Amino acid sequence: MKLKIAVLAGDGIGPEVTREATSILRAVAELGGHDFTFTEGLIGGIAITETGSPLPTATLDTALDSDAVLMGAVGDNKFNALPPDKRPEAGLLQIRQALGGFANLRPSIAYAALSESSPLRPEVTKDVDILFVRELLGGLYFGAPRWWNRETNESINTMRYTKAEVTRVARIAFELAAKRRKKVTSVDKANVLEVSQLWRATVTEVAQDYPEVTLEHQLVDSMAMHIMNTPRNFDVVLTENLFGDILSDEAGVITGSLGMLPSATIGGTVNLYEPVHGSAPDIAGTGKANPLGAILTAAMILRHSANLEQDAKAVEQAVHKVLNAGYRTADIARGRPSITTQEMGKLVHQALAESIDLRQAMHAV
Ligand code: IPM
Ligand code: MN
Repeated sequence: MKLKIAVLAGDGIGPEVTREATSILRAVAELGGHDFTFTEGLIGGIAITETGSPLPTATLDTALDSDAVLMGAVGDNKFNALPPDKRPEAGLLQIRQALGGFANLRPSIAYAALSESSPLRPEVTKDVDILFVRELLGGLYFGAPRWWNRETNESINTMRYTKAEVTRVARIAFELAAKRRKKVTSVDKANVLEVSQLWRATVTEVAQDYPEVTLEHQLVDSMAMHIMNTPRNFDVVLTENLFGDILSDEAGVITGSLGMLPSATIGGTVNLYEPVHGSAPDIAGTGKANPLGAILTAAMILRHSANLEQDAKAVEQAVHKVLNAGYRTADIARGRPSITTQEMGKLVHQALAESIDLRQAMHAV
């Protein structure tokens, strides 16, 4: 298996967690005899500092020429005063648009070993396994017009969706649900917004092609509450761009930390992989960052871009194993002693090597 991976580590804790993720991918390649190549590129604040642009052309070219793009995180307080289109985050939005992936998959899983790390009671989070499908290229993030007029003190953003944009992301949600627990919960604000009424009507229409999948609609405000009250009721949760941004951070509470959440964006020319967490500049360089979100993102590369499902599972199981053995980074330690970013990466690496060795030994028999 050959795979060209563009690595855009970005800002803050991005480089340190991405290092652990790529080292896991290198291990999988080595153990399985695969040919993975890694090309680094600049994005976000570091790219602004070094080139003046949050997404330099060279980075975009590298990304477009790859089979998968692995991102770290973007964002740096240094640039807080800049308008949105000049900030590090603009680089991320531009690359999302250029790669064309419109379905952002964000799994939120409750790890038994971390049940004490969640502020929710263990009986609430037990066995939770939600897959958010967040529309990534439409809505308020990209709608025009958008401006802030400082003279008139007026500003505008536009929430806009076409039926085609809703249909394509809804199809992905239904396809994925068909392979899981066969339920899609579509999130909107159809009691107030026309965009949501179009969303709801379109999703209802798409559902007719998937009779084996149950569809329910939830208003975003009550959904925010249901996710905390009864997270086990949800399988695939389909949302527009901003609602998915908000609800997926909220779902980090189920897992115990935002640092645990991976994501994959599919449907475009090149898939884009990024942990859900941000650049966390306050802890950058301290060894406190949790690399598991990035490592689980690497597992999603194996699943969605390399078609190596067994290896993807092996990485996920290695993460389970290390957590079950009691190892914790600071964000999930809850008073226990914690280990560093690098130590966590190394432990997952060891657990992975053991399980792949075992698989190969079993094949050889
Ligand atoms: C995310 C992030 C981004 C988003 C930011 C950094 C632009 O919060 O991936 O969830 O809002 O999409
Ligand atoms: Mn977010």
